[in-house]
Amino acid sequence: MVDKSGRGRVMAVYHLKGGVGKTAAAVNLAYISAASGYRTLLCDLDPQSSATYYLRVEPRLKHARKVLLKGGANVSGNIKGTDYDGLDLLPADWSHRHLTTSLDRVSKSRKRLRSILGPFRREYDLIVLDSPATATLLAENIFVASDLVLVPVVPSTLAARAYANVRAFIRRKGYDEGKVWAFFSMVEARKKMHRATMAAMKEQFPGWLGTAIPYAADVESMGSARAPLPAFLPVAAATGRYRALWDELAAVLGPGSTPGSQSA
Ligand SMILES: Nc1ncnc2c1ncn2[C@@H]1O[C@H](COP(=O)(O)OP(=O)(O)O)[C@@H](O)[C@H]1O
Ligand SMILES: [Mg+2]
Repeated sequence: MVDKSGRGRVMAVYHLKGGVGKTAAAVNLAYISAASGYRTLLCDLDPQSSATYYLRVEPRLKHARKVLLKGGANVSGNIKGTDYDGLDLLPADWSHRHLTTSLDRVSKSRKRLRSILGPFRREYDLIVLDSPATATLLAENIFVASDLVLVPVVPSTLAARAYANVRAFIRRKGYDEGKVWAFFSMVEARKKMHRATMAAMKEQFPGWLGTAIPYAADVESMGSARAPLPAFLPVAAATGRYRALWDELAAVLGPGSTPGSQSA
């Protein structure tokens, strides 16, 4: 899971739309990564702090405003352990709401997040970014910082249009479309419309992962369990899908690499 210089990978879960399963995927994939032996850091970049809530971590940060602007010790001092071996969390905070304007005011840089995360790519094999639904300078920072941008797509007509907007945004800004990977999320296989939309979208756009995540009450129950799905329902069907999705992503992120290879 490391690059040529032995540094960990960064994967963002991103979409312009909310409510498509970004946080569910970020939390479950980060958990599976850690359980597979990769030292994993989940960064909750969404002021709604759902990922932080799922992992039962207090969302308040010390020196909140400065954390993502200054980086370094301000970030590391706020990384929290979770109940799960190998999984750490950078919690959300209200200040993230101001991150975009702050980034804009301070540096106007699209590389700021990448440089802030740089040192942590020596400590972690994988950094997962849970993004808010945004198409701002923060989104651009997320694209620049990431080796892989994972986009959950709900196969409804409106969601298909939103995904077309994501691809157009990435192209217009000149980012590498090759690092964008999409998967179908909240799929209701019995719905003819879902099946037809999936087939049409696969023709229209490249970069689909083979695994789809079904619409499942078990995934919703993460909210009451306040835990990653594989931690409390290890053999549920939806858990199996997240594991299959992880296997595909691990192959893209680090062909041939093994857990712990960074420290070996
Ligand atoms: N596969 C799924 N099946 C059923 N409900 C889901 C699924 N994925 C997410 N949800 C639910 O939908 C809502 C939005 O999911 P979330 O992951 O928070 O989306 P986002 O981060 O894109 O806003 C949450 O209540 C979550 O529990
Ligand atoms: Mg979310």
